[in-house]
Order: sequence, then C-alpha cells, then structure tokens
Amino acid sequence: MLDASNTPRKLVEVSGLKMYFPIHAGVLRRKVGDVKAVDNVSFHIFEGETLGLVGESGCGKSTCGRAILRLYEVTDGIVKIDGKEIAKADREALRKMRPTMQMVFQDPQASLNPRMTVASIIGEPLDEHTKLSKKEKLERIYELMDQVGLNRAFANRYPHEFSGGQRQRIGIARALALNPKFIVCDEPIAALDVSIQAQVVNLLEELQERLGLTYLFISHDLSMVRHIADRVAVMYLGQMAELAPREALYARPKHPYTEALLSAVPDPDPTLESERERIILKGDVPSPANPPKGCNFCTRCPKVMEICHSVEPTFEEVAPGHYVACHLYQSNSQNAGATGASEARKEHIQQGEEA
Ligand SMILES: Nc1ncnc2c1ncn2[C@@H]1O[C@H](COP(=O)(O)OP(=O)(O)O)[C@@H](O)[C@H]1O
Ligand SMILES: [Mg+2]
Repeated sequence: MLDASNTPRKLVEVSGLKMYFPIHAGVLRRKVGDVKAVDNVSFHIFEGETLGLVGESGCGKSTCGRAILRLYEVTDGIVKIDGKEIAKADREALRKMRPTMQMVFQDPQASLNPRMTVASIIGEPLDEHTKLSKKEKLERIYELMDQVGLNRAFANRYPHEFSGGQRQRIGIARALALNPKFIVCDEPIAALDVSIQAQVVNLLEELQERLGLTYLFISHDLSMVRHIADRVAVMYLGQMAELAPREALYARPKHPYTEALLSAVPDPDPTLESERERIILKGDVPSPANPPKGCNFCTRCPKVMEICHSVEPTFEEVAPGHYVACHLYQSNSQNAGATGASEARKEHIQQGEEA
C-alpha cells in the first residue's frame, strides 16, 4: 500500500505505550507495586503488512496487542490507528473505532460462546454495529462463512461440533464481520494441531491479500513468523529489543537477545544447520514487577558491559528500518563515552566484520 510518494502509509502508530498491572497486598489490599507488562514501547505498522511480534512467554506480547486495541485501559502512551487516537479516546469515540480493529485469539475454544450458534457468533458484531435487516444479516454471515471456508449448512451448529481448525475459522469470520483494517492475531495457531496450522496461516494470508488487511501477528514460534511476517519485532521483559525487516533480522540480528533466540531455531539449510551454534542464556527472566536497572537484559546478556547495569539504552534506528535497544549500537556519545562502551562497541563491530 503505497501513497503518491511511494512510501508506505503507517496504519498503526504506537508511541511510549505502557501497560502496568497494579499489585495489591496485605489485608488492606494496598498497592505495593506494578507488573510492568509493557513498558515504554514504540513502533508502527505499515498498511497491508504483517508485523510479527516474538519473544518468550510472559514478555508482554498479548498485553501489547490488547492494549493497542484498547481492550485494557492503558497506563500511558499514544496509539493511533488509521490516524485516530485510541489509547485515550472516550467511550463513544472508541465504539465508533471498534469495527476498524479486531482480534483473533489463541484459543478458539475459550473465546467462542459455547451456547451460541455459529451464525449468532459471527453475526453478533453486526447486531452491535450495523442496522442490517435479518435477511441482509444472514446473507453477510453466509458470505463470511464462504470467505473462511466454512460450510454454510453448519450455520446453526454450536462451536463444540467443530474441530479446532474450524473453530478458529469461526473466530476469524467473526473478526472480519465489520470489515476491519487491522487485526491482532494473538498466537492464532498455537493451540492447533501441527497438521492444520498451515491451513489457518494460509487462510490468514489469503484474506490479507484479498481484503488488504494489516496484521500484528503475535507468536513465540520464530519459524512461523519468518514465514508470515514482513517485519519482525522482538520483545523482552515488556520492552522492544529489536525490530527489523524479516530478512535483516533473521540474517543479521543485532541484539544479543535476538541472537540467542534465533540460535535456538533450526535452519532449513543443512549446511548452515550443521554450523548452528546454540547460545544458552544463563539465569531466568527477571520479574516484570522488578526489572533490572539499566538495560533490562543486562542480567542475562552474554555481551554485557558496565554501562548496561546503569543506563537504559534507547530504541534507536541503527540501519534503515532496523531498530535496536542495545549499548553496542547506541549513537549517544554521552552513553558510549561514559564507561568505555565505545571501545567495546568498536571491538564488537570488528569481530562482526571478521566473522
Ligand atoms: N491481567 C493481568 N493482571 C496482572 N498481570 C498480568 C495480566 N496480564 C498479564 N500479566 C502479566 O504481564 C506479563 C506479560 O504477560 P503477557 O502479555 O500475557 O505475555 P505473553 O503474551 O508474551 O506471554 C506477565 O508477567 C503476566 O503475568
Ligand atoms: Mg500471550
């Protein structure tokens, strides 16, 4: 989707997004702290693209996706979808924006009401947001069932009568009912049998092409994201570690965390696979209620430097479209000069060049 100047349009713009969950304790249920599930995250998604969002379980991917769609009251930050601010929009404004943005959930079993028929599940958003007649509504429901490859004859059946893959198709049809532009797919295939995962991914890709959809595709499966995403964002402990076009990220990861994550993914090329060296990170992921000072990855980073324990790196564009939050790449001379990071950085870059 290009505009007149041939630059893709940003459909989703996220800036300084924070989503903290309060922690209460004691008999008085006093607030004693926050789980910083998403902590100062900024990125954008171009119209018509798929941005993959990866990272270990608990790093804040789902919270990020939900916060963007305002399924939570966000702690701070700006989210614009199609030019409209949503993070702080009032109820009525939000209601008007709802059709533009939808979500496909991980577990179709849990997200579909077991007491509703397929037709009523898919038709529910139409009841809430349109004034279609009964007949028009049924036509639209059939059309949606066709689009996702569900047999119209099953419109009056209940979710439990379907397989996992078919249930996910019901969830997708429902998400499409109001002609959204942007869909957050939160691990949409993680709960499905491997044999049907590809079918659902293919369906999502087909629909994207046909309907010009924009996806935030959340997954912990880096091989799957490599297949489906145009650009990939890597999250660690509530923050963005790296974001880059897919090829650059998989071929030349910059952040030590991304390097470690990718080192665990088997390479389809047998020669490369035989050379693959697994980077095992030491220690556990710290608690998002009490993240480390400085860089949040400093407690586990194989390339940690002194500065990393005290100064938080900024999320910077270090090559065209390639963003990384790491002191090895920071342009800020004040940071780099402070504790000899620039020396370490030179060394690292030289090593990189020799390799
Ligand atoms: N509603 C909630 N209340 C309190 N903490 C939450 C809530 N939802 C998620 N969290 C916490 O926020 C962090 C990020 O969770 P989540 O976004 O689900 O991660 P992911 O999707 O990457 O596995 C975790 O530590 C999780 O326990
Ligand atoms: Mg999740």
